[in-house]
Amino acid sequence: MLHERIPNLGKLVEPDRVRKEVYTDPEIFELEMERIHERVWIYCGHASQVPKPGDYVTVQIGRQPMVMVRGKDGKVNVLYNRCPHRGAMVCGDQRGNTGEFFRCSYHAWTFEHDGRLRNIPMMESGYAGTRWGRDNPDCGMKRAARVENYRGFVFASLAADGPSLSEFLGRSKIAFDDMCDRSPEGEVEVVPNCFRVIQKSNWKIFLENQLDALHPSVTHQSTGRAAREIELAIEKKTGKAPLSYHMLSAFATVTIEKWDAFQTLNYPYGHCILTGYMGLRPQDPDTLEYERVLAKAYGEKRKEKILTTDIHHVLIYPGLSVQSPLQQLRAVRPLGVDKTLTEIWHFRLKGAPEPIYRRSLAYYNLVNSPSTMINADDLENFWKCQQGLSSEGGDWVSFHRHYGRDIQKGDYLETGPNMGTSEAPMRNQMKAWARFMAAEK
Ligand code: FES
Ligand SMILES: [Fe+2]
Repeated sequence: MLHERIPNLGKLVEPDRVRKEVYTDPEIFELEMERIHERVWIYCGHASQVPKPGDYVTVQIGRQPMVMVRGKDGKVNVLYNRCPHRGAMVCGDQRGNTGEFFRCSYHAWTFEHDGRLRNIPMMESGYAGTRWGRDNPDCGMKRAARVENYRGFVFASLAADGPSLSEFLGRSKIAFDDMCDRSPEGEVEVVPNCFRVIQKSNWKIFLENQLDALHPSVTHQSTGRAAREIELAIEKKTGKAPLSYHMLSAFATVTIEKWDAFQTLNYPYGHCILTGYMGLRPQDPDTLEYERVLAKAYGEKRKEKILTTDIHHVLIYPGLSVQSPLQQLRAVRPLGVDKTLTEIWHFRLKGAPEPIYRRSLAYYNLVNSPSTMINADDLENFWKCQQGLSSEGGDWVSFHRHYGRDIQKGDYLETGPNMGTSEAPMRNQMKAWARFMAAEK
């Protein structure tokens, strides 16, 4: 805990290191929710989660329970999930269809899909002469200040001012372009429902791990080695092992030196990209068929451009980690200073052959799901970090790896050659954190 109760935020973050309180102090967590998560653009969900009028999903933005709902006009609205009467949450389920309107289960106030009050039981007699009634906007469900969508991915900002979604995302938009362009129809649709994991660690520890290119060949080595052994045995027997083994064995075969050959690109607002391609273009009949479909839709040249997009991971600060070539994303919902929910979603490429979806599903199950050894090993590290950071064993977290060797290119920063394991993405995230936290309302 900090000794100063109004923390001097300027002292917490240095360009190459960060104070441990940033991960452990509950007051700093509250301030982060106010100044970051409840202000910037946060991913709510994909438009295909609410295809019909009245379809809704509930979602947490910072500390605020929200509901994303499709209106009769086709528009996707994001509302505070709170009844203006006595404050009850209007939707208690994770998802559903609310019908023609929302109806609060407590006293039956009803609301349109855009949050406007529709009716109150016996409103005229009950509320005559009071300031409560249909014309008072406070009698509706409050709307998120801003809602925008990029290629079907819906974001909301709870602050009326600030950059537009397009400006905020900047070059990290490539996450959604890469994902959608891989579909012959240029669109993805969500696979309804996701894995949900609660981690006993601060939300930033998860995000810092996403572009940490040093850890996979250490943390995931045991899983990678075991998978490699089986892969080799199958290859010996049949001549060729399924691609799914490669998804795991890569953790052993891609050594630290090879990870260094990749690169990170670090953008304003804390977004970062890790380049490096997993080799998802084997020459098997399924892949060749997919390539044929894609060439038919886009032409040979554009198809080649799409399939050679060199991205492993895009981190959209402060709450989204996207693996576009495999059509998956993880949304981060902080629940407390040492408690974080991650939602693990995956998508179908519209119009692509089924085996390409099965590939994405295999990666989802083998690498990102709660039941895989990969995710379990990461979670153990996150928990250990939170425990160690809460101790008196030291005050700082080190982000010194390849510090001072980054290359500034206009408004973004690129890691130098053979420095893929640089901690530049963590430094970039904390730089954005410090800027957001310094901006008072
Ligand atoms: S709390 Fe919603 S109608 Fe009373
Ligand atoms: Fe990992």
